[in-house]
Formats: sequence, C-alpha cells, structure tokens
Amino acid sequence: MSSITRQALKSFENAPNPRFKQVMQSLVRHLHAFADEVELTEEEWWEGIRFLTDTGHMCDGFIRQEFILLSDTLGLSMLVDEINHRQVANGTETTVFGPFYIDGMPDRAFGENMAFTPGDATLIHGRVLDTHGQPVADVVLDVWQTASNGMYSGQDVDQPTGNLRGRYRTDANGNFAIRTILPVCYPVPTDGPVGRMLDAAQRLAWRPGHVHFVLERPGYTRLVTHLFTEGDPYLGSDAVFGVKQSLQVVYEDRAEQDELSAQVGMPLPFKRAYYEFVLESE
Ligand code: BEZ
Ligand code: FE
Repeated sequence: MSSITRQALKSFENAPNPRFKQVMQSLVRHLHAFADEVELTEEEWWEGIRFLTDTGHMCDGFIRQEFILLSDTLGLSMLVDEINHRQVANGTETTVFGPFYIDGMPDRAFGENMAFTPGDATLIHGRVLDTHGQPVADVVLDVWQTASNGMYSGQDVDQPTGNLRGRYRTDANGNFAIRTILPVCYPVPTDGPVGRMLDAAQRLAWRPGHVHFVLERPGYTRLVTHLFTEGDPYLGSDAVFGVKQSLQVVYEDRAEQDELSAQVGMPLPFKRAYYEFVLESE
C-alpha cells in the first residue's frame, strides 16, 4: 500500500461517527486501488473532474438529476437496491426509482384517467395484498409514466402539469384501477455527460416501456417498483439494469366492455393489464 493511501486512511481514524469512518476509509481504499490499477494519468484525472463538474451543472434541483442518472447507468442504483432488499420474503420485487418523480401530484379516484395526451387507451388494475394473501386497503399508489413521445411531464414543458402522474388508493378489498395510455420505451436523457459516456461505450440509452409505482401504507415497507411491458424489445438491454422477470405484465387487447372497464369509462378498444402487488409488513 502506498504511504499516501496509508496517510489518507489514517486521517479519518479519529472520526467520532463510526459509520462515517467506515464508509470514508473504504471509499479511500477503493479509490486509491482504482487509480493504482489503471495507472490513472493526470489528463484522465482532469477529465474525471470535468465530467463530475458537468454532471453537477446538469442538475436543476427539480427534475433533471444527472448524478442519479450516472448512478443508474453505472448500475450503482440497482446494486444499492439489491443490497437493501436482500431479506425480501415474498413481497413484490423492487427496482430503480429514477430521476423523474415529482412529489405532491394529484389524488386520483378509482379508475380515474391520468392521461391528458394521446396514446393507446389502457387500464391497469389489480390488488394489493400482504404476504399472507390478505387484501390491503388504503394503500397509496403514486404512479408516473412518460407520454407517447417518451418524455415525462415536468421534463417536457408542452405537457400539462400532472399529466400521466397521480396518487391512487386501494379500496376496502385492496383493489386499484388506473386509466392511462400504453407506456412506450424511451431513451434516458443523452444531452449531458452521461449521454457522452454512453456514446463513448457504444451503449444503448433505451429503457423498456414501464410504469413507475411507489406503494405506501403505514405499517408496511414502502415499495418502489415498475411494471414493465412484456415483449418490449429493450427488456434485455435496459440502460439502467432495472428489469426483473416478476415485474412484467401482458397488455391484452379488449374490444368489448366488461364490468370494470364500463365502470371507469374506458373507450373502445383498449388494453388491459392485471397485477397483484405484495407489501411486506414493517
Ligand atoms: C426512469 O425510468 O424514469 C429512469 C430511470 C433511470 C434513469 C433515467 C430514467
Ligand atoms: Fe421511467
């Protein structure tokens, strides 16, 4: 070990917070080992500093968070997700949160339409259960997805506020219903330093079609996940490594009304997917 590494490690020796000390000493050890392994040149060190500076400048404090995008495209976000959900019993699997969540979106009624821009009419419905198979009432499902142009409201100034976003709630039997449009595959933003990195690696920027969900109810572990579209061409090459088999749903073509679709006023024809989320007790 270089004496510089030894000195840098020692400089954290007296940190009063033991977790801070552990994390910082490990970070120093791995950073130094990395520089040693690749024999980092001064020009490359500068390029790294420029890259991180550009990444910070690309963040707008609202919806563009280039550091999250960097973490996502390096696989770090999904690794942290995996580390923190290792003891999952039989709850629904988690996946990446992503940078496009907006807090405080409107509460929506059972089956309310959250799409104010065109697309294939779609009904996503299902139930929320506990790990014993019992329905869970009053679960808030915070939902967001892109419009048919592959952009999120907030990211795309031409979309109305709250488009394809909303907070749904399960009824007394644990049922939920969301009227929306079919999610599309879309590329993560490539107009910043992360885009330059993907380009240099000849990597695809695409994510398969999905709808984001955060499920919350006191007494249960918060669930951050997606529903992916089965058959999407990018399921095997998600730019952020978020795909899990158990999170894929089939959208069936429906040409006629059924009781639920009539109740929520689906136009014909429409697509329909069913999913059962399982929440774990805290
Ligand atoms: C998303 O699905 O919204 C997303 C996730 C990670 C990076 C970029 C976008
Ligand atoms: Fe997304």
